[in-house]
Amino acid sequence: MKKITIAIDGFSSTGKSTLAKELAKELGYIYVDTGAMYRAIAFFAMQNGYISPDFLDKETLINSLPYITLSFKFNADLGFAEMYLNDANVETEIRTLEVSNFVSKVAEVSQVRAKLVEQQQEMGKNKGIVMDGRDIGTVVFPDAELKIFMTAGADTRAQRRFDELQAKGDAVTYEEVLKNVEERDYIDTHRADSPLVMAADAIEIDNSYLSKKEQFDVVFELVQEVV
Ligand code: C5P
Repeated sequence: MKKITIAIDGFSSTGKSTLAKELAKELGYIYVDTGAMYRAIAFFAMQNGYISPDFLDKETLINSLPYITLSFKFNADLGFAEMYLNDANVETEIRTLEVSNFVSKVAEVSQVRAKLVEQQQEMGKNKGIVMDGRDIGTVVFPDAELKIFMTAGADTRAQRRFDELQAKGDAVTYEEVLKNVEERDYIDTHRADSPLVMAADAIEIDNSYLSKKEQFDVVFELVQEVV
């Protein structure tokens, strides 16, 4: 069976990473969560005081980029790779609502995108990869053999994210999460560099009313048609 590149793009909290992880596991492929990379950069900016709710010190962030190293290390107990920022495991830190509130601002910066896209293309150069994000089928791997674009209503997505954060014990309200989902949708679709848009050759899946198993089955069948 030939190895292919699978690009999964879409709005936040559409279940891209759950689907991508399952697919990678089933196919024996590498899974890369590119949102984690943008989140790690946002966390770095927060830690160093380069970002606040109404300010981003873009220049200092850009000058710091050569000193930021991002890597994924597989955690066998969890069954997926965790995000490391300059050799520190930041998997938990990058999943907070605070990071979610800053990440799209950081992801607008072209120099940040260029650095991460280069690393993503390097990770996928041998194919056999499932990568999820916002620009995978359009910018990172425009030649990917299979491109999926996932959507669901903002309220459905906010509810999913709210349930996840609550399960982790984060003190957030549904309204805060919905506001974050809507703001990120807006910034991600309106930015000048690599806005979130469905690639012309992507297959759209609205999973508002699909179970995880149903989504997996639909996409796995599409994979079978390509390999
Ligand atoms: O996928 P996740 O919701 O963790 O992504 C966090 C944010 O990172 C997105 O809202 C978007 O601003 C940014 N992102 C991006 N390009 C990607 C992946 C994520 O701009 N490929």
